[in-house]
Amino acid sequence: MTEKAFATRIKISLYVRGMASRSIDQLLAGLRAAAEPTRLRLLAICAQAELTVTELTQIVGQSQPRVSRHLKLLCEAGLLDRLREGSWVFYRLARDAELARRLAALVPAGDPALALDLERLERIKAARAATAQAYFRENAPRWDRIRSLYVDDREVEARLLDLLPDAVGDLLDLGTGTGRMLELLGPRAERAIGIDLSREMLAVARVNLDRRGLRHCEVRQGDIYQLPFPAASFDVVLLHQVLHYVERPAAAIAEAARVLRPGGRLVVVDFAPHALEFLRDEHKHRRLGFADDELAGWQRAAGLDPAPPQALPGGALTVVLWAADRQGSQLLPSNDRSEPAPERALALAGDTP
Ligand SMILES: C[S@@+](CC[C@H](N)C(=O)[O-])C[C@H]1O[C@@H](n2cnc3c(N)ncnc32)[C@H](O)[C@@H]1O
Repeated sequence: MTEKAFATRIKISLYVRGMASRSIDQLLAGLRAAAEPTRLRLLAICAQAELTVTELTQIVGQSQPRVSRHLKLLCEAGLLDRLREGSWVFYRLARDAELARRLAALVPAGDPALALDLERLERIKAARAATAQAYFRENAPRWDRIRSLYVDDREVEARLLDLLPDAVGDLLDLGTGTGRMLELLGPRAERAIGIDLSREMLAVARVNLDRRGLRHCEVRQGDIYQLPFPAASFDVVLLHQVLHYVERPAAAIAEAARVLRPGGRLVVVDFAPHALEFLRDEHKHRRLGFADDELAGWQRAAGLDPAPPQALPGGALTVVLWAADRQGSQLLPSNDRSEPAPERALALAGDTP
């Protein structure tokens, strides 16, 4: 499939998705839930960031049970999403709730209670950034050493941008780490989700996305072998410098392909075969690179059509970009899909009783 055809399919999908309608009952339920001072403040606060109950309690200065009750009502009315990350639960404006966005925007920023809320929110964000920076400082020398062995990241990123259209639709970044791929491609995506096992990495990613103002990008804790999404949920799926860490690369590719829509593209970026044993011993790499035919075999086995690999030699390591497409005549219109949208599916998956 050409880049142009790929871009056209994504545009069709975005157009159809915007036509989903809401009922009057849903609208009334939303208005009723929001018609209370603290709940309106919570909506306005959650429009700024994803926050835990503890953080929201600190911001609005009320007891945890009270805040939890307000949050429950807002979630039930579809105005907020509740997302579990290990033992933590994050709240954020519901993705498809235009009403929540509009109500949050109507709350006057100069209102004294909200102004104080936003001041406290900034303090919480600063504390998060300090924790993330400490983790980053600790690990950066390790990452820098590996980076020095291959071409400049900017070259790899430029090649990746060339492989994808200007509008990438729904993007999934597997093993998102500090969220660099979301920062790079988020501006081209309608929505973007990063998945990673490491809470520390996700904390850094949240701070990075917040700094860039990428509110339509989010990160979630999860395992790339068991993605909390229905089949055919994303237009683009990325595995950037992740595959060499995983024990079962073929299974990771199969799972990535499962969530790819017809007409969508998977891009794996990793190293060509090499002999740098210290990466295994000191940096927990499980695989010392991948051969082109090995990668193409896994992509074909997952029902994808591999494109010619693109190699970027440099230093001791060669970076390769392996793209593959899921064939399909047309992207499914989202309101014709029987499965829930990705963000709803994620909320459901995280919502343990
Ligand atoms: C080298 S980092 C790459 C991060 C990012 N993709 C980038 O290129 O900047 C690899 C990431 O994969 C994550 N990871 C490894 N195995 C995983 C798994 N089974 N599920 C989710 N994330 C995983 C690690 O936690 C780590 O953050």
